[in-house]
Amino acid sequence: MAEGMLLAVAQKIIEDLSSWTFQEVGSLWDVEAELDNIKNTLSTIQAVLQDAAEQQSHNHQVRDWLEKLKVAVYEADDLLSEFLTEALRRGGTSENLAKKVRGFFSSSNPLVFRYDMSRKIKAMRQKLNAIAEDRKKFHLKECHVEPHVSMDREETHSFVPNENVLGREDDKKAIIKLLLDPNVEENVSVVPIVGIGGLGKTTLAQYVYNDDIVKKHFELKMWVCVSDPFEVKAVIEKIIASATSNKPNDLHMDELQKQLRKEIDGKKYLLVLDDVWNQNYNKWDNLKSLLMGGAKGSRIIITTRAKLVAEITSPISIYTLNGLSIDQSWSLFEQIAFRKTTRDQQS
Ligand SMILES: Nc1ncnc2c1ncn2[C@@H]1O[C@H](COP(=O)(O)OP(=O)(O)O)[C@@H](O)[C@H]1O
Ligand SMILES: [Mg+2]
Repeated sequence: MAEGMLLAVAQKIIEDLSSWTFQEVGSLWDVEAELDNIKNTLSTIQAVLQDAAEQQSHNHQVRDWLEKLKVAVYEADDLLSEFLTEALRRGGTSENLAKKVRGFFSSSNPLVFRYDMSRKIKAMRQKLNAIAEDRKKFHLKECHVEPHVSMDREETHSFVPNENVLGREDDKKAIIKLLLDPNVEENVSVVPIVGIGGLGKTTLAQYVYNDDIVKKHFELKMWVCVSDPFEVKAVIEKIIASATSNKPNDLHMDELQKQLRKEIDGKKYLLVLDDVWNQNYNKWDNLKSLLMGGAKGSRIIITTRAKLVAEITSPISIYTLNGLSIDQSWSLFEQIAFRKTTRDQQS
């Protein structure tokens, strides 16, 4: 069993559902209330997870309940990813809705999609509610660790101590192979890491970023935590800040693009864009055109949970991340639970 992932996946779903993109898409496709309900139910369940994980070793019913919960949470994540991808593909945000009129999406019928999705999301909501109700049978201890966390995505950074990363050796090697591949024609090319929320995409990107071979290979390395919504100007500011360790002060776009190109042009660089949600091709194209001046061998890693987002970047290949092995998941769960306990004790 992989409870290790369960805690993190539930947390990420909650965060994702609070994101700007999900809220906008949810309201446009009329499933806002259902999504809100799913979010609340997951928070309720999350509060008893730690106790449940402890109880399951001597309580078979709790173990069965956890097993059912795990299946449902993974299903929920799949469904939400499918919903997001499809909704965005069909012009899910107000910005894209106009494009739909141009007939790009004419072969699909939005009414059928809306009906089908709201039916599936409702069924998922009911399933999770029922599981949440069942928890009452076991009188599990509630522990509300981070009630505020659902509203904000925490800004990520480039560092992870190597000894904190479990497994992922092979994933790291595979990514580094893509980064160093001498046969890539373009000067600057994109390597997306795709996988559901909480799976460890950011951790893997950090692990790669801090690898000695990578450090030696690239002349310049930059890490940008991309916020949602995706604003090209804000991303450029963050890239410059990462490259120069100085935040540019309130420049106009034209000055910014000059400064950006001055920093990266002619250098073999590695840029990580962590947690990208942007599905707007024009915005991506706009940003990419400014990044093209890097020397041959430059690479952009993006992490994202939506395959569509990765496809938009015209990558050399998409790296799909899988879950950890069962043993590794357990150790990870212990690590996360342990971190939580220490934090509780400190507060
Ligand atoms: N291989 C790993 N080793 C140790 N901790 C991990 C590993 N993968 C993920 N984690 C932990 O799980 C949580 C979610 O991982 P993260 O990299 O943020 O996922 P993602 O970016 O896919 O949403 C974080 O707390 C992270 O530290
Ligand atoms: Mg991440």
